[in-house]
Amino acid sequence: MTPYRPFQRLMHWLVALSLPVLFILGLWMTARAGANLWDDQTNLLYGLHKALGFAVLCLMVLRLVLKLRTAAPDYPSSLSPTLVVLAKTIHGLMYLLLFAVPLLGWAAVTAYPALITVAGYHLPAMPGITPNQALAKQLFALHGTLAFALGALALGHIAAALKHLLFNRDGVFERMWPGKPTQSR
Ligand code: HEM
Repeated sequence: MTPYRPFQRLMHWLVALSLPVLFILGLWMTARAGANLWDDQTNLLYGLHKALGFAVLCLMVLRLVLKLRTAAPDYPSSLSPTLVVLAKTIHGLMYLLLFAVPLLGWAAVTAYPALITVAGYHLPAMPGITPNQALAKQLFALHGTLAFALGALALGHIAAALKHLLFNRDGVFERMWPGKPTQSR
């Protein structure tokens, strides 16, 4: 089975590994803020979340450009057309949310404004957004809700990938795995 290109696999795994880190940071920092614990640790957690989230947005821009230039390999003929449509729909929705969630986070910190990340480094302000606390509150709420929708889709995606690896054994999992792809039936 044709594997994904090395740069496609690299992009996939960089984003995939960043997501659980962003979730842990996001839930941890908001729990501390909810408990009114505004200390250096909370600020560090927020700073790391904002910097990594912005890095994921930049990676997604690069990933989209590469995706438009290099097509994904075809699915095996053993996969039913319904499953192919389902897989493509889930991948499309994940792409959409992987742009929407960090864009909403960036818009929210621009509106708040709270653009500082770590080591005194500030993110650029999102063009077209002016300070507005009420807007920031709404954008944060949408950011959190869509982040959970993204998390749910990612769990479904992982379950499907594991089904290919453990039950179907059709090489679909291996073609996205880092390293030299192995031959499978
Ligand atoms: C794919 C990227 C991202 C994911 C998966 C993600 C995920 C999350 C999650 C799970 C939360 C907690 C939500 C809650 O408890 O209701 C959160 C909160 C937050 N995120 Fe993100 N985030 C991402 C990108 C960003 C970016 C790019 C920024 C800003 C530059 C950002 C800024 C924030 C802030 C400030 C909060 C706290 C909101 C509040 O206090 O209500 N995030 N994020």
